[in-house]
Amino acid sequence: MVVMAGHQMHKRQVFSSVVGIVVLCLMARHMETAVAELGVNWGRISSDPLSNDVVVQMLKDNNFVKVKLFDANSEVIESMRGINLEVMVAITNDMLATIAASIDAAAAWVKANVTSHLGNNGVNIKYAAVGNEPFLTGYNGKYVDVTLPALKNVQAALAAAGLAETVKAVVPCNADILSDNSYPSQQTFRADLAPVMLDIVTALQSTNSPFVVNLYPFLNLVLQPTFPVDFAFFTGYNTPLVDGTRIYTNVFDASFDGVVVALNNAGYPNMDVIVGEIGWPTDGANYATIELAQKFNQQLVNHLESGVGTPLRPGKLEAYVFGLLDENAKSTLPGNFERHWGIFNFDGTVKYPLDLTGGVDGTQTALVGSKNVPYYPRQWCVLKPTADLSLLPANLDYACGSTDCTPLFSGGSCSGLTLQQNASYAFNNYYQFNNQLPSACDFQGLAQVTTTDPSSGTCKFTIGVRPVGSQSIAAPGISQSQSSASPTVSFTVLLIINLLIFSCIQSLPFP
Ligand SMILES: *[C@@H]1O[C@H](CO)[C@@H](O)[C@H](O)[C@H]1NC(C)=O
Ligand SMILES: *[C@@H]1O[C@H](CO)[C@@H](O)[C@H](O)[C@H]1NC(C)=O
Repeated sequence: MVVMAGHQMHKRQVFSSVVGIVVLCLMARHMETAVAELGVNWGRISSDPLSNDVVVQMLKDNNFVKVKLFDANSEVIESMRGINLEVMVAITNDMLATIAASIDAAAAWVKANVTSHLGNNGVNIKYAAVGNEPFLTGYNGKYVDVTLPALKNVQAALAAAGLAETVKAVVPCNADILSDNSYPSQQTFRADLAPVMLDIVTALQSTNSPFVVNLYPFLNLVLQPTFPVDFAFFTGYNTPLVDGTRIYTNVFDASFDGVVVALNNAGYPNMDVIVGEIGWPTDGANYATIELAQKFNQQLVNHLESGVGTPLRPGKLEAYVFGLLDENAKSTLPGNFERHWGIFNFDGTVKYPLDLTGGVDGTQTALVGSKNVPYYPRQWCVLKPTADLSLLPANLDYACGSTDCTPLFSGGSCSGLTLQQNASYAFNNYYQFNNQLPSACDFQGLAQVTTTDPSSGTCKFTIGVRPVGSQSIAAPGISQSQSSASPTVSFTVLLIINLLIFSCIQSLPFP
């Protein structure tokens, strides 16, 4: 409510009223603290990973202060040395058995992947994730027995290294650790997992560590045909979930509180809950569109930054958006959308406007895209107009076999193409994946290189990013046109507001 009132005052009176300036100052301070809770997942399963420096600059430019990794790549971690960024490093699932079996292996992991990065002006590693969603039903119980001993060994290794207070071991869990009861107040851990989850939360509690859970309203929506769309967003006023005296208007709050209740039922009512992943994909499925991703993520950020919290946990919530960039080489086992969760495109260009401050300062803050990305030349590989179509199916299969063709399928951004365009899309992806090698644009003589952008409607034909370490060239125009699509408040207005904020920060003594 306070923020709303401030917002309106800002619009009407900011330029004439001293009161407005004071309110702005207070909101600027509020914004600083609010934004501080927003984290982002940095996954790197891409054929064209951006250099670490480019990504770290994006994290800084967009004021992310927490980042979650999926492994402990030394160069990635080192790229965050000496900057104000809280880092979660991770033990991959395939290492869990080794770490579980040997305290020495855990100690070696902590030494190599945590301790070596710390120190004066070091990397601010705050969490070590033990596995990633190890209890996912899709794993058929593969990691159920190793996760707890791995967690305990890592806790012991962190303690032995003198890090018990500063680095907390956590276990990011998928939401399917919960029973499928839809009432938060009745939530428990899934029956088959209850014993191990109890041991895990007991171990977490013993080191005063938070519970990390990944929540996906998008999956609620796409996996359940009757799921009310508004409830997947933050606008389920017409279809609220009435849970005793509590009324839920969005599945995020309901899922979050379900976790809180499950923890409560396990005997840990005060354990902190962190949302390890939450987001919305933009391609590869129904509902996976730019418009809906923008809507969801903006509502999510607004919800988080408002500080309202959930019915059971009012106040600040900590969450990591999933994810920073599209990852075109991820497994599509969960669905074709899996490669399209980025709030930025694979090359770090802005996909859609998103104000990560949640509008709490009354202005719009645009996303800042990647800078100094070394692209290949502006050229694409397409089907020759005269091509013999009888050769097409085999070549299409070949191209799609090693590149990302998910946008071509039903619900995808390129699902409306003609057969010829289909072929061009696949050929071009293959060509870009293969560093624009001339031999990668042949396909039995069916293909040719063009300098005319074949993009059509929502379907974007990309240009590859040069591998890290190769010679860089000037970025093509596409990144520019995309990243400028954001602010609705004019630059001049922003400038004036910034000057006002700056002058009030200078002049007002804050306690
Ligand atoms: C450190 O992490 C990396 C990347 O996840 C892994 O490959 C390596 O084995 C780890 N080091 C040790 C000593 O466990
Ligand atoms: C384009 O490719 C997709 C994926 O293989 C397919 O479903 C679609 O039918 C194709 N379109 C045409 C016109 O052949």
